[in-house]
Amino acid sequence: MSDTVELTITRHDPRSAKAVADELVAVYAKVYDVPPYAGDPFFSVETYAERLTAAFDMDGFETVTGRTIDGTLVGYVHGVTLPADRAWWVSLGGDRPDDAVKAAQAGEVFWLRELMVLPSHTNQGVGRRLHDAMVAGRPEPWTTLTCVFDNEPARSAYPRWGYEVFGGRIKHAPESPTYDAMVLRPR
Ligand SMILES: CC(C)(COP(=O)(O)OP(=O)(O)OC[C@H]1O[C@@H](n2cnc3c(N)ncnc32)[C@H](O)[C@@H]1OP(=O)(O)O)[C@@H](O)C(=O)NCCC(=O)NCCS
Repeated sequence: MSDTVELTITRHDPRSAKAVADELVAVYAKVYDVPPYAGDPFFSVETYAERLTAAFDMDGFETVTGRTIDGTLVGYVHGVTLPADRAWWVSLGGDRPDDAVKAAQAGEVFWLRELMVLPSHTNQGVGRRLHDAMVAGRPEPWTTLTCVFDNEPARSAYPRWGYEVFGGRIKHAPESPTYDAMVLRPR
């Protein structure tokens, strides 16, 4: 897909992300206002706002935003340094690549927590550009993420972007859907 959207890509540390938190939540509200997420409390705007606020205080939080030339926030990605004791990560046990486990213990895995693009701007390369900008600028050589197993087009795109699926499927909470876990090895 050729890049057709002129984008300003900006990195935000927790302080500058907090300044645009309302916009970040507003984008989420538009992106997730579709089946099967609309009406599911796990994906509610309030729940997301709480998760985002908690993420601001985690080690290594960063968000990378994409704005069109009129300043509209059309998408973003955010994540943190993976805590090696995070429950979903630990639950995958010996199914995790050994070198990824070692990297996590050394604080060398970035946990990409969210990537989203407004429906009006999808399928024009915005998601890929935000992803690549985020990963390229991170200090951690590894990246991991979880993706709802039937969430397309994301689930199929990540392996094309170099991710390896590992282990069985996981949940982030009893009420959450089921996710595949993936790693992107150091380049
Ligand atoms: C996933 C998401 C971020 C992708 O954003 P995007 O701006 O469309 O991303 P891109 O245009 O870079 O497309 C990503 C890939 O998906 C494919 N794709 C995007 N929209 C598509 C569509 N409607 N039909 C088929 N394929 C599509 C593209 O061809 C591309 O594949 P490639 O990189 O191998 O060429 C966006 O769909 C989204 O916000 N979805 C809802 C939130 C979500 O699921 N986030 C991911 C959570 S793990």
